[in-house]
Amino acid sequence: MSGAPVGEIARRRVDERGVAALVYDASDGSRASVIVMRTAGGYRAWRNRCPHWGVPLAPPRGPFLDETGERLRCLSHGALFRPEDGVCEDGPCPGASLEAFTVEECGEVLRIHEPSPVRLSASRGTVRLAVPGVGEEA
Ligand code: FES
Repeated sequence: MSGAPVGEIARRRVDERGVAALVYDASDGSRASVIVMRTAGGYRAWRNRCPHWGVPLAPPRGPFLDETGERLRCLSHGALFRPEDGVCEDGPCPGASLEAFTVEECGEVLRIHEPSPVRLSASRGTVRLAVPGVGEEA
């Protein structure tokens, strides 16, 4: 699994539209939220933060969906995102993506993990990129 879990949510809390919010205390002390979606491809989780201006898509508990109930919507300027891959397909940031969290299915509970941290290190002019779970050079 990727980063540390930020919390759990019961499957039954994902509403009839297939969406729920998990509100948690972020490492910077702020209250943050993750949007949990049930899609045809399984559960997905997205940070409630728009890639356009870096502000929340909506208040911590939503509303997150557009009128059709098929896409996530940013309330600031109306960007629309596909729930399956988090990519903006309409609005001011086409092609930009929401930040994905990992969903671990544990029986009736969905455990939400923050994205894997990316570490950068430099020595003698070489910059190394290390992503946990992906092979690193020796
Ligand atoms: S801040 Fe989300 S569309 Fe502009």
